[in-house]
Amino acid sequence: MKAEHKEASLEAQAKETKQHEEIEKELEFSSLYRWQHWIRALSIVILIATGFYIAMPVIAPSVSSQPDNFMYALFRSWHQIFGFVLTAAIIFKTYLFLMAREHEMERSSLRDLFDIKVWLQQVGYYLFMTKHPKLRGVYNPVQFAAYIFFYILMFVLILTGLVLYVHVYHEGLGGVLFDLMRWFEVLMGGLANVREIHHIAMWGVIIFVLAHVYMAVFNAVFGEEGAMDAIFSGFKWHKKH
Ligand code: HEM
Repeated sequence: MKAEHKEASLEAQAKETKQHEEIEKELEFSSLYRWQHWIRALSIVILIATGFYIAMPVIAPSVSSQPDNFMYALFRSWHQIFGFVLTAAIIFKTYLFLMAREHEMERSSLRDLFDIKVWLQQVGYYLFMTKHPKLRGVYNPVQFAAYIFFYILMFVLILTGLVLYVHVYHEGLGGVLFDLMRWFEVLMGGLANVREIHHIAMWGVIIFVLAHVYMAVFNAVFGEEGAMDAIFSGFKWHKKH
């Protein structure tokens, strides 16, 4: 019985060593990339929560004789703070995508975006009908198209957010940006529309986040390269060539 157990454990050990020989880890996302991803994720969660409050202030401050219970202003200022954090992170990430040499793998995904065969194979993979396509870059075309949609939403939110901001704070940065943001306000058909578009874009972000988390879990369960790990550790696993 003991000998049998030892044999099984040796077999398992050998299997593990063989697996280690066959797969290797490769850096997928730099630490800078991972930091900005989680900073954006946190900002988006806070912006959605505070945004809902700004749209519909469901909690009223406790009644006080002192005029110092500015709960709406408090929610709005946290919204502003994380609005600017998100703006900075999006500008930074856009710069990395367009310019950084280390982000060549991201730009390479553009080639798969215009390849109908990769599209069909990727959709087939999600429907459990085909194998995962071989990709030229880090993102598959469905994922890349979703990210383009996300960035469009982000820039709409930033521009409309800045228009709303200059109408709330008239000094400092608000004052500097006031004239600069007027063209966009006019283009959107006035401040009321700007606020509405800002609100609708939030729903776009909510849909994106739900789909993004679902796809991440799908990859963690069915993917073989540990793609979900990469956004925490930076590394992906693949077979040695
Ligand atoms: C994921 C990103 C964001 C989400 C989900 C979001 C969501 C919202 C929502 C739902 C509202 C209320 C609109 C309404 O009244 O119906 C709002 C208002 C506002 N947002 Fe955002 N927002 C985001 C990003 C930003 C950014 C980047 C800025 C500025 C740079 C910003 C600045 C503002 C301002 C100034 C208001 C109006 C506050 C007021 O009326 O007092 N937002 N946001």
